[in-house]
Amino acid sequence: MTELAPVDEAITLDQLNLDPFPIYRRLRSEAPVCRVKAAGRTFLTKAADTKHVKDNPELFSSDDPNTPMKRAFWAHTLMRKDGKAHLTERMAMAPAFAPKVITNEWMPRYQKIAEEYVSRLPRGEVVDLFAILSGAYAARGLAILLGMEEASDEDMMEWSQALIEGAGNFGWRDEPFERADRANEAIHSLLDSLQDRHRTSPNPSAFSVMLTADDPIPEKQIYANIKIAIGGGINEPRDALNTTLYGLLTNPEQLEEVKKNGDWMKAFEEGVRWVAPISASSRLVKEDTEIRGCLIPKGDTVMTIQASANRDEDVVSNGEVFDVYRDDCHHQSFGNGPHFCQGTHVARRAVGQIMLPALFDRFPNMSIPDIDAVLWRGFGFRGPIQIPVLLE
Ligand code: HEM
Repeated sequence: MTELAPVDEAITLDQLNLDPFPIYRRLRSEAPVCRVKAAGRTFLTKAADTKHVKDNPELFSSDDPNTPMKRAFWAHTLMRKDGKAHLTERMAMAPAFAPKVITNEWMPRYQKIAEEYVSRLPRGEVVDLFAILSGAYAARGLAILLGMEEASDEDMMEWSQALIEGAGNFGWRDEPFERADRANEAIHSLLDSLQDRHRTSPNPSAFSVMLTADDPIPEKQIYANIKIAIGGGINEPRDALNTTLYGLLTNPEQLEEVKKNGDWMKAFEEGVRWVAPISASSRLVKEDTEIRGCLIPKGDTVMTIQASANRDEDVVSNGEVFDVYRDDCHHQSFGNGPHFCQGTHVARRAVGQIMLPALFDRFPNMSIPDIDAVLWRGFGFRGPIQIPVLLE
């Protein structure tokens, strides 16, 4: 008879939050399918398994009624739906992410924002790019793409954080939900006030294309999916930018090569492989199944750890190391299967094609004066939460 996966009672959430990579490396070699007690989930740390789960939504569902996301978002978002219900809502937003729209509408706007935000950085000073640039840049671009540019950068960042923390509030505490409620109220009130404008002057923004579609999805779902994009579209490009900057600034010979060849997109790709901004995702098991000889029972929740898959020895050599010029930069940082990140191309181009070269163009001799001052955090989401850089 097939046995359940081994249980690990030693791993703590604090350890995962501070530095999960040594834990993932051990799990990949000793227990690649492992029930981690502190997380209440079965961790899958090998690339083939994380891909298998995301590619098989009939067996591994996104529609998990036990997560706090519904409560935090006041709705069941597309991220937590399967099959046709998911596809219909994803397609409703898709025109805003069409390649032509990205190239003709969004990238010129991102370019302008990047120039403006980089030009106001103080030369010759040490500044924390996390606090002063990365989140704000992502927030401004996203506000335009979604059709809600009336929101300030601070509003967008607060709403994003409030929704994420609400969705991750597995302890069902009041405070995170109350903060998420305030974000919901503010977002709904802004969207209500913008409806007329988008209806009378239709445009390619996500809100406008959903409102003015021939057969629109219900308004509640339009709002829900704008909120999922707010929750999913700020911290990840922010973390990808900060992580890639860290990788380049701590590897000066690679940085020189990247500058010489203009390989910024390559650097971005390696940055998100090295530290996946969304490190883990959950799926609900619909039928008894087996992974690597372990029984995965119906009703269990598996966690695909893409941060670990990206360093899996079976697909990446020397995966713990940041190396822009590796020839095996395989990663799953944008997910797999039907929920593959809808903002992939926007994020790649906004960060890799626009922001990285803009920053190094203005501050070619940037450096990190105190490596210990860079602080990394996060298990589900991960990146530097403080990255002081000398701008020269
Ligand atoms: C480097 C930046 C980014 C990373 C690493 C990232 C990562 C991901 C991942 C891993 C998922 C799938 C989650 C799952 O399978 O459960 C996802 C979904 C999603 N992302 Fe991103 N994302 C990024 C940027 C963005 C941006 C800029 C936007 C919006 C403009 C966005 C919008 C979305 C949406 C709407 C979904 C849900 C798709 C669906 O469920 O069908 N993302 N993202």
